[in-house]
Amino acid sequence: MIEKHFLDSNTILYGVFGDPIRHSKSPVMLNRAFAEAGINAAYAAFHIQPGQLKDAIHGVRALQFRGVNVTIPHKVEVMDYMDEIDEGARIIGAVNTIINDNGRLIGRNTDGIGYVRSLKEETGINLKGMKVLMVGAGGAARGVGYALAKEGAAHIYVANRTREKADELVKSMSSFTGTSGIGMDELGEVAGQVGLIVNNTSVGMYPNVDAVPMDTALINSPTVVSDLVYNPLITRFLRESEARGAKIHSGLGMFIYQGAYAFEYWTGKPAPVAAMRQAVLDSFN
Ligand code: ATR
Repeated sequence: MIEKHFLDSNTILYGVFGDPIRHSKSPVMLNRAFAEAGINAAYAAFHIQPGQLKDAIHGVRALQFRGVNVTIPHKVEVMDYMDEIDEGARIIGAVNTIINDNGRLIGRNTDGIGYVRSLKEETGINLKGMKVLMVGAGGAARGVGYALAKEGAAHIYVANRTREKADELVKSMSSFTGTSGIGMDELGEVAGQVGLIVNNTSVGMYPNVDAVPMDTALINSPTVVSDLVYNPLITRFLRESEARGAKIHSGLGMFIYQGAYAFEYWTGKPAPVAAMRQAVLDSFN
């Protein structure tokens, strides 16, 4: 780890654009990553309000930022301002990472692939041929579903409070894998047949920490149960699932690895994942 980290005339600039943004852990995580890798770079949080995104993206070119992360609510609109969008981001319908290649802006999405890398590294799961149950069908679910399908999941069931959104997501994934939209009342029939259950909803997130996205009595070992929520780090859903014999996976990993992929696209170097995770954990205390 480089002890001294300072800004000078050669510092390469990075940032995250969002609204709200002051809660973001990305600056703490990425600045630690640059320091650890000995790269002279700085990463800041920018509060970009609705209607100002286009100007902000012009600024990325003018100021020669090397890279930007994009978060809520800009992930979809930002696609209009890219010179190129990779296949994954196009299918997911959202960009969370911009790479500035000498003025040419490339939009990618590292959320889903970050999720899968974290899931594999933290649980050792082999997704090939596996049946998966996803609860939730919002923006996060689109990235996760795409990445799970790309990893070779054999069938993805999607349940969502608003059934039409589950059916829509299923349709968009159907060219990559087997898919079914199911009702929340059908969870009992499916939960026992799958190797992985993922909570893609915000249910259980602070401050509503007692809520669960589905009845954990439906879960049997040896399923892997994964939650995208990372505040709290271990949700009630994960705690109860573990008590029923499931192997659990917390949402913090997705956040760390989406940043790790961004770092690797920008720098061409392997991300110092352990240091990045420690930086985020330290910032909770
Ligand atoms: P994100 O980008 O985090 O995925 P989103 O696109 O707003 O956010 O999606 C939120 C997901 O959580 C949706 O699946 C939503 O269900 P609906 O499509 O029915 O809105 C789900 N969700 C949020 N609050 C919920 C609640 N109290 N009960 C059940 N599902 C909930």
